[in-house]
Amino acid sequence: MFYKNIVASAALLTGVLAAPTPSALPQGFPNPNTTELEAIQKAAGGELSNAPPPASVNASSVPVFQLINFNENFEVAFFNSLVYNITNDVPGFQIPWGGEKASLLNILTSVLAQEELHALNAGGVLTHFNAFAPPPCVYKFPTTDLASAIALSQTFTSLVLGTLQDAAEGLAINGDHGPVRTVASVIGEEGEQNGFFRSLLNRKPAEKPFLTTSVATFLFSSLQDFVVSCPFDLNQIPIPRLPTIKVLSGNSGSDVQPQDQTLTFSVDLTGVEAAKPYYGSPEAANALFITYLTGQNLPVSKPINSIAWSGEVMTFQADFPFEEFTMSGLTVAALTTANNYTGPDDIAASTLAAPALIQVNDPIL
Ligand SMILES: *[C@@H]1O[C@H](CO)[C@@H](O)[C@H](O)[C@H]1NC(C)=O
Ligand SMILES: *[C@@H]1O[C@H](CO)[C@@H](O)[C@H](O)[C@H]1NC(C)=O
Ligand SMILES: *[C@@H]1O[C@H](CO)[C@@H](O)[C@H](O)[C@H]1NC(C)=O
Ligand SMILES: *[C@@H]1O[C@H](CO)[C@@H](O)[C@H](O)[C@H]1NC(C)=O
Repeated sequence: MFYKNIVASAALLTGVLAAPTPSALPQGFPNPNTTELEAIQKAAGGELSNAPPPASVNASSVPVFQLINFNENFEVAFFNSLVYNITNDVPGFQIPWGGEKASLLNILTSVLAQEELHALNAGGVLTHFNAFAPPPCVYKFPTTDLASAIALSQTFTSLVLGTLQDAAEGLAINGDHGPVRTVASVIGEEGEQNGFFRSLLNRKPAEKPFLTTSVATFLFSSLQDFVVSCPFDLNQIPIPRLPTIKVLSGNSGSDVQPQDQTLTFSVDLTGVEAAKPYYGSPEAANALFITYLTGQNLPVSKPINSIAWSGEVMTFQADFPFEEFTMSGLTVAALTTANNYTGPDDIAASTLAAPALIQVNDPIL
């Protein structure tokens, strides 16, 4: 596939080192003036809705919009950096064919503008109801070549697609049916983006019949791994933040083989109050579980074993039941104190760390 060539070849080229980060977010984001907003909407291929906001939103829905805003701010910064790197031929991001480079930049510039509008939409709801709208933070990205950047885009977009399910359900429970239509439209839009990222990576565009679900606490925790600093107190967003879990198997979880196997994990539980009874004790930690979310299945909990502690860092193993649950695409995992969950909403309250992101890729060729 030609896209595969683009992604693979960029990593092989080397060149003059360009400035590593763009200086500012594009088009006046997060406060574009009318001219800049017009430019964003043109690039995005559509507009912020001109429908009036709902008459009210339940106070319980405010964190839903705050998390969406916080996440979209991260996505804007990520795609802005990616567009910058490709445009400026940063080593690892060089595409040697002018036509292909222009076409990829055209698509990613549009993705960037779409993410800006998603952020402005969520921020607009918050501002309208006099709630705190989180401004962008300073971020760090672990990726230094095109292939890994597209792979990361694919994984975090899948996690977002899972968490927007949680947002839609939360709004419904809170009696805020109005914004559910918009959230559903964003789910479809991000799914279209992800199909493209997956094609670039030589994966079939649609990963599963029912995309893996996730919950707000897991996405908010995961995003902390990209945050260097924020110009506000993170406690202004009342969603818990947990340490994330590293997957040591399958290329850091990004390429786990499609088969039953034992996976190895590591987690730094420093500062987690509920984890203190387990510190240093493999015997105590034997009572813990890895709980998997895959597709729309009920949570699957497996006991952890082969536990080793180094200070407050625990390394452990757990079965990954690929065959029984056909775990292609993204699986989201949590380190939990229970194994009797009746749905995704129950998990966060008894979770010590999450998420671990496990990606099973079925290459097309
Ligand atoms: C918006 O900002 C841009 C860049 O700062 C400026 O060129 C433009 O004149 C501004 N437009 C309006 C309507 O203020
Ligand atoms: C852009 O390139 C810089 C320098 O290699 C890198 O640190 C950064 O993570 C890259 N951005 C993305 C989105 O991969
Ligand atoms: C607001 O949300 C809470 C929590 O979901 C719910 O108990 C309450 O009934 C909602 N209020 C209205 C007016 O729907
Ligand atoms: C799960 O088990 C815990 C303790 O083992 C118990 O407190 C909790 O009520 C159980 N939850 C369900 C949904 O059965």
